[in-house]
Amino acid sequence: MDDAKLNEILTRHDRDPAALLAILMDIQAEENYLPRETLKKVAEQLEVAFAKVYSLATFFGAFSLEPRGKHICTVCMGTACHVRGAPKLVEQVERQFDLEPGQTTEDMFLTLETVNCVGACALGPLVILDGEYHGNIKSNKLEKVLKKLEKERG
Ligand code: FES
Repeated sequence: MDDAKLNEILTRHDRDPAALLAILMDIQAEENYLPRETLKKVAEQLEVAFAKVYSLATFFGAFSLEPRGKHICTVCMGTACHVRGAPKLVEQVERQFDLEPGQTTEDMFLTLETVNCVGACALGPLVILDGEYHGNIKSNKLEKVLKKLEKERG
């Protein structure tokens, strides 16, 4: 992340170490992950130990320390979603974009992730694309969602 952008985020939070979690969330919202170099700069500028910043970044599952794609496709693999066909949905994304859960396409277009229950079991099976919930999703509906993505990718 460039210094100007980071500066803007830190200023937004009054450079307050107590706002560290919110700062990390804003960085991830911009970059889709938390670059290590940026975490170092955050620690320096807020005058907190890098270990503290790093442990917060690794503690929350919502943060990623690895670069992620422009789009994030998350398939819930919790029990309720699993029994309603989530594994097939994962396979569908894997096949179409030639990647496995935890991976990003080479062109950084899409990251596929799985989670264990996001607390919306009544909506299962559930696919979350860029924060948008697609509940009770069947293979044919997922196909439409994925086709739209493919179209954007060109
Ligand atoms: S198991 Fe998928 S939301 Fe709970």
